Amino acid sequence: MLANRSRLIIKTALATLALAALAGAIIGLVVLKSGIYPIGATTQHLQLVHSVLEEGMRASVQQHSRNVKVPALDSPAQLRRGAALFRDNCAHCHGGPGFAQSDWGKSMQPLPGPLVDATRRWETADIYWITKNGIKMSGMPAWQYHLTDEELWSVVSFVRQLPALTARDYQRLTEEVATPAATATAAATSTPAVLSQGDPARGKVALTQYACNACHRIAGVTGSEVFVGKPLAGLQKQQFIVGKLPMSQDNLVRWIVDPKAVDAHTAMPVMNVPEADARDMAAYLWKQR
Ligand code: HEC
Ligand code: HEC
Repeated sequence: MLANRSRLIIKTALATLALAALAGAIIGLVVLKSGIYPIGATTQHLQLVHSVLEEGMRASVQQHSRNVKVPALDSPAQLRRGAALFRDNCAHCHGGPGFAQSDWGKSMQPLPGPLVDATRRWETADIYWITKNGIKMSGMPAWQYHLTDEELWSVVSFVRQLPALTARDYQRLTEEVATPAATATAAATSTPAVLSQGDPARGKVALTQYACNACHRIAGVTGSEVFVGKPLAGLQKQQFIVGKLPMSQDNLVRWIVDPKAVDAHTAMPVMNVPEADARDMAAYLWKQR
């Protein structure tokens, strides 16, 4: 008798939960498909949505940065280097001591804030992790593909000093240092022990970091439908690369590093990909059926 009753209660509870979930899903779908949620960068998120996103971001960064080992960050040379790197790579979005970000930086959504208060909200390891890996769906780039690890730490050492820097300090720091040497190929030198066959897992990430997915649909890479270059899948079955180079993993590397050298009139741009990264990408592409 009692057993029957508790079974009835459990059944009713489960049915109610299922109905509520169904109603929630329907409401969600209607909101999604009706297009009423404003996506333009001129409307703010609701405070609730903003807080939820921020909380999720914070928890994720802290979770992912827990194995980061912070090196000594107190050399004046490193600070000067960091200041110059900040001026050239970060200031147009984040602004700096005594000046705001560029006009387009000001109208980004989410807004890249001045980093003077970053140390109040983040541990040093978090700042390094964010700078290295970027933040998805925010516009904050992953700098590991543009700066060496040493340069990343230099920028971090500079960001740590920001709260103490006046506009004059900043000017003095950045005046002393000329523009750092071009860092486009920096990633190549920061990659330890390059595997001659490439690392497919790294390659998959690199394919998005060099914006290959802006033009190509790539097997296994999330992205929108794009129609500029051919979908990159099943390359192994092709005889030639763009009808010119015999298909092989090594020739894929050649193509990715310098497509213009293979075909002077190709629409594929030279993307300044260091060979080590191209090897990783070729290793990934080679495996996609
Ligand atoms: C193209 C614009 C852009 C550039 C360039 C850029 N950032 Fe960002 N950054 C962002 C955006 C957008 C956010 C996210 C803001 C948010 O979600 O609130 C962000 C967030 C951050 C955060 C977390 C800030 C916080 O207080 O939560 C740090 C730290 C950071 N960036 C460091 C850097 C460094 C260091 C550089 C230069 C190496 C850099 N950023 C270059 C756009 C940029
Ligand atoms: C601006 C657009 C654009 C970008 C960005 C781009 N590609 Fe291409 N890609 C093309 C076009 C167009 C072709 C076809 C070229 C031709 O036929 O001359 C092509 C051809 C290729 C091919 C040969 C495909 C075949 O079937 O022969 C490969 C491989 C390739 N791209 C890889 C990449 C990789 C890796 C990246 C990123 C580093 C990249 N592409 C970035 C436009 C682009």
